[in-house]
Amino acid sequence: MENRQESLIFVGMKRVITYGTYDLLHQGHINILRRAKALGDYLIVGVTNDSFDRERGKLNVRNNVMERVEAVKATGLADQIIIEDYVGQKIDDIQKYDIDIFAIGSDWVGKFDYLNEYCEVVYLPRTEGISSTQLRNESQEVVRVGVVGCGRIAKRFVPESCFVNGVEVCALYDSDPQVAAAFAERYAIPAVCADFEALLAEVDAVYVATPHLSHYDYIRRALQARKHVLCETPMVLDEEQARELYALAEEQAVVLMEANKTAHCPAFNHLMVMIKSGVIGQVVDIEASLSKVWGDKSLREFDPEQAGGSMYELGSYPLLPIVKLLGPDYCDMRLYSRMEDRIDVYTKGVVCYPNAICSFKLGLGVKTEGNLVISGTRGYAYVPAPWWKTDYFELRYENQNENKKFFYKWDGEGLRYEIQEFISCIVNHRLNSTRLRRRESIAMAKMMQQFTERKNFIQL
Ligand code: CTP
Repeated sequence: MENRQESLIFVGMKRVITYGTYDLLHQGHINILRRAKALGDYLIVGVTNDSFDRERGKLNVRNNVMERVEAVKATGLADQIIIEDYVGQKIDDIQKYDIDIFAIGSDWVGKFDYLNEYCEVVYLPRTEGISSTQLRNESQEVVRVGVVGCGRIAKRFVPESCFVNGVEVCALYDSDPQVAAAFAERYAIPAVCADFEALLAEVDAVYVATPHLSHYDYIRRALQARKHVLCETPMVLDEEQARELYALAEEQAVVLMEANKTAHCPAFNHLMVMIKSGVIGQVVDIEASLSKVWGDKSLREFDPEQAGGSMYELGSYPLLPIVKLLGPDYCDMRLYSRMEDRIDVYTKGVVCYPNAICSFKLGLGVKTEGNLVISGTRGYAYVPAPWWKTDYFELRYENQNENKKFFYKWDGEGLRYEIQEFISCIVNHRLNSTRLRRRESIAMAKMMQQFTERKNFIQL
């Protein structure tokens, strides 16, 4: 009955639809909504949801989807507000809501001509001189970051930082001055510092990308100087050191974050929250693997003096879903390693919890299937290799009709997500990131320590 009444009201009405992010709602948005409304009798506004924005590469949206919906509602111009979740939704919406006119700003001219098949497409004049991007840039405090250690990962970090607003890599330090000079030139970094103290004087935050064993000292000194720290994973290989550093960060009221790129990527995050909300029931088993075969044995990764080997090098990726889903309080962990030239070229670990069991396989010079399988009492999640760069996963059930596939985008090297979270924590005075909690990072350091101490360890 209600539906019939509704459709009667709509007879003869011209229905208009428009879409946008509407971040930091500004006069340009209000003008376009007014113009769109004037085209017809009933205006539907599609507001993009947060994950859809991230997928489209919009990483810096300030207001979350609820705030943006509220802002559009407050203009009083929208008769109805909907959320835009996926590519192709516009066609579905036009048909579903029986739309006559699709309206959008003139910055999109030509882009939506394909919708002419379904309704009239109108490009409306855009308001000059204002945009959300401009407002974000104007109000953004810029975090000045210094890089310590100019190796392979730092080479990926600097270009990735360009995709994040509010960050400027302005200085660097490397123990080898020639490496530092070449890096600064290649990535146009203004200051090359003679020592770490000089670097600290130049910046608000440091990115530690040096070999594992030097992390602790750099982090401690940076925190003592009240600088925020993003440190490559594994942050430290010792539980006490991890506890001490997080306590120091808390005391100094600065952010300390372990740069585990998987922890920050949108698809992995979504998978974690879905599983925590019970989509596969209770987690009973996690199997995660990661392996690399590198020809060049002179790399740091193979050097026992620099904490080389598969556990230290790769362990923090498989340990991540384990500690995130089952927590830091495991009962027991057993490790089995094949050692060659004093490093573990292959390690298999078994981690027991009161109601769950997990295993992981790590190879550095051994190749194995690198997928992630999380089994639960109702179903399981399957993430194919390379799951640590998650862009796709499936939820599978006894009844195959319930199976679901999830697709995402993994942009560039994927470091932009952790950089964005680091900057967001700093700007919003959020000392702790839920994507990789302190207790989870500490648990991983404890697991590394167990390997160092060869506890519950069998050498093959
Ligand atoms: N719009 C406009 N005039 C402006 C800014 C935006 O008419 N000065 C229009 C866009 O063309 C679009 C709608 O407002 O139809 C929503 O755009 P949105 O992308 O949310 O706003 P922008 O300010 O362009 O955002 P960004 O800078 O993040 O791209």
